[in-house]
Amino acid sequence: MNAPRIELPAACLLGPEWERLLLLGWFALASRQGQVLSDAQLAQLRALQQQVDTLRAPGGVWQRALGEARSALELDVLACAAAPELEPRVGWLFQQLQGGGATQASRALIQELLALDATQGHALRAALLRDAPLQRDGWLRSAPDDAYKPLAPEPRLLERLSGQVPPPAPPPGAERVLQAAGWDDLVLPPDRLQLLHEFLLWVRGRDTVVGQWGGQRVGGPVALFAGPSGTGKTLAASVIAGALGWPLYRIDLGRLVSKYVGETEENLNRLFEAAHAQPMVLQFDEADALFAKRGEVKEARDRYANMEVSHLLTRIEAHDGPCILTTNLRRQLDAAFLRRIHVVVEFPRPDAAGRAALWQRLLPPRAPRTPDVDPALLAGAATLTGGQIRNAALHAAYLAAGAGPAPIGLVHVAAGVWRELSKDGREVARSELGALSAHLALCDPRVPEEETDD
Ligand SMILES: Nc1ncnc2c1ncn2[C@@H]1O[C@H](COP(=O)(O)OP(=O)(O)O)[C@@H](O)[C@H]1O
Ligand SMILES: [Mg+2]
Repeated sequence: MNAPRIELPAACLLGPEWERLLLLGWFALASRQGQVLSDAQLAQLRALQQQVDTLRAPGGVWQRALGEARSALELDVLACAAAPELEPRVGWLFQQLQGGGATQASRALIQELLALDATQGHALRAALLRDAPLQRDGWLRSAPDDAYKPLAPEPRLLERLSGQVPPPAPPPGAERVLQAAGWDDLVLPPDRLQLLHEFLLWVRGRDTVVGQWGGQRVGGPVALFAGPSGTGKTLAASVIAGALGWPLYRIDLGRLVSKYVGETEENLNRLFEAAHAQPMVLQFDEADALFAKRGEVKEARDRYANMEVSHLLTRIEAHDGPCILTTNLRRQLDAAFLRRIHVVVEFPRPDAAGRAALWQRLLPPRAPRTPDVDPALLAGAATLTGGQIRNAALHAAYLAAGAGPAPIGLVHVAAGVWRELSKDGREVARSELGALSAHLALCDPRVPEEETDD
């Protein structure tokens, strides 16, 4: 399994912010004493300023930590508010600058440090008002009418910057997928695994490609997972979320749309506003209607008739954060739609080797088995998807547990597969169970109804 990548807390990456404040503080002390700054000192400030700009760029450390974009002035204020807590040298310096008073900066001190003129000073005061975003959104407390009263960072600001971020609340209309899964759990052809890794690169490499290299900023990134039901699309999304250390939220477009007829657009807006730049992965199921070619999949289109499909696509594109669209349809995908997707992964039905690996993983790992329960034999017996194998394996395990418990034997597996295949009420031919069919008669009539329901 790949080692999880450790995300450094923002506070560790914000060094240039603290250094800049120290330098500005020393400059303020010096200029109070009538000293003039040297060219070298000014050059040092300019160099730090450049590093600070990178931290503050869209998608940079600040935006990721706060989960939202803030103006340069607001970030100056937040840096001043957080610095004394996160870098004590700044606290001592602020205290000295404020005549031995508070370690937290007052509005007057910030105005002096940043050398704001009257107009800028007015903007600073406005930014600190109670209903301005900094206070309203809970980043800090301030008394804007008292220029000498220290600002106080809210715990939320310090938590975000020091990496102790509680998982973001589910955006409205989304439900959390609680499935801890790693790369080892996924059974897919190597080229599909490679594509999934590449999608992760899109998420993780943004600071480099967009922030530092000036790469064009596109939304998302957006991935499309296409393949029959039960082929591991949600599992793969869980693996991606797990690799990022972020929660996975699933949005059933069908439900979102039919549940709130007429309010869909508003609901989507709410969802995206809540999810904007948050550390989370969004999975949109039933994305079919978004890319069905005109005339195709008429039914799906009708279901979405009350919603502006292009609006949704545009919203997904504009969303800052990984989105995974899933679909069971394997029609030709609309080229115009595909242009808006960054990574497309097709999830195939597993081949025999894949099915054997799935049986191996999905029979409970510590369950006793009779020696004839051979994953290769089970793989050859029936062409099931991963989801079907999971159900059949669990069903077999419950049958065995209920029979004593006894070791899982071919009778139990045969019954599990039979139940899985007959789920949709279809007459299942014995031959569909291949080598397992010989073991079917032994158990089927005798299994009482209540033990076989799952
Ligand atoms: N490719 C796969 N690799 C490993 N397990 C799989 C795979 N496909 C399906 N499974 C098993 O089946 C379950 C259901 O699959 P899921 O990811 O929900 O499929 P989908 O989202 O494509 O319908 C998974 O939780 C997993 O146990
Ligand atoms: Mg799924």
